[in-house]
Amino acid sequence: MKKELLRIKGLTIEFQGEISYPIIRNLDFSIWKGEKLSLVGESGCGKTITALSLMGLLPYAIKRKEGEILFHTAREVLPLHSFSPDSPEWLKVRGKEISMVFQEPSVSLNPTLTAGYQIAEPLIYRGCNRKDARDRALRIMEKVGLPHPADVYNRFPHELSGGMQQRVMLAMALILEPSLLIADEPTTALDVTIQAGILELIKELNEKMGMAFLLITHDLGVVNDVAEEMIVMYAGEILEQGKVKDLLKNPLQPYLKGLIASLPSLSGGKKKLESMQGSVPQPWERPVGCVFSPRCAYRMSICSRPPLWKEVENGHWVRCWLYE
Ligand SMILES: Nc1ncnc2c1ncn2[C@@H]1O[C@H](COP(=O)(O)OP(=O)(O)OP(=O)(O)O)[C@@H](O)[C@H]1O
Ligand SMILES: [Mg+2]
Repeated sequence: MKKELLRIKGLTIEFQGEISYPIIRNLDFSIWKGEKLSLVGESGCGKTITALSLMGLLPYAIKRKEGEILFHTAREVLPLHSFSPDSPEWLKVRGKEISMVFQEPSVSLNPTLTAGYQIAEPLIYRGCNRKDARDRALRIMEKVGLPHPADVYNRFPHELSGGMQQRVMLAMALILEPSLLIADEPTTALDVTIQAGILELIKELNEKMGMAFLLITHDLGVVNDVAEEMIVMYAGEILEQGKVKDLLKNPLQPYLKGLIASLPSLSGGKKKLESMQGSVPQPWERPVGCVFSPRCAYRMSICSRPPLWKEVENGHWVRCWLYE
């Protein structure tokens, strides 16, 4: 039976400054044990902020306004949203239970520490002696496909290629064997063969260790290869959710239809690529009603009111007036 790992309930996160505005709004979804989940959407729609909120690592001036983040341990449900980022509860969960690979390895690694030390650090921090920590780091480095681990261990990030840096990030995220890995665009900076290797590895860890993942990407091809479930985000809201194969075969929201139509197809030959008009609105100029309506070719007068979240087919949910 499916077991819930993380539940996000009515989560609204806003930028709080001279003017305040929501960046993500009323987010509701669960991550199940061992799930292969992906989060897709155009640049600026709130994917990274969502991920950072699940790690308790929101940037300065970005704060939770409403909603809950509930993490299921074996014994209890932890209300993570109610703890401050440096509380013992967060320190127990972050890294150990929920871990993240960040979007940009070159800026996320510490340039002054060796790759190996950065991988072993979570163990040392938790009281493991240096020798054991090093041995375990070397094992995980081998697992993520870093060549000559004992040599790479002593190298600094700038001495490594982009693909190796990304593997170091992955090793750091995996060293404590988390139950959920959040991977934020883990492969966008890499060439396709290295990309495939990293994604294969994430899939393998899911299958062998039962580690759930939340893969953030704007690449629907990657989603199709790696994930089973998918959430489509736009302007800080979820517009569609369900099984990857259902959503890609039968997209409901015109936004997802547009994303799919703008994909080049290797087998499709001469199909003319469609491009979607306009761009993601800035969070402070969020459209009223359906957030996608200003760009939508199917816009109706009712779209000035917010559409409800509706299950149109079994497990396939959408927020769109076309299906009311
Ligand atoms: N530190 C910050 N301070 C203020 N606004 C921010 C900050 N980080 C992100 N934002 C804003 O929050 C919104 C969502 O950003 P986010 O980085 O989550 O997008 P994304 O979906 O991850 O995009 P991308 O695909 O480009 O990574 C954007 O409008 C962005 O400008
Ligand atoms: Mg991002």
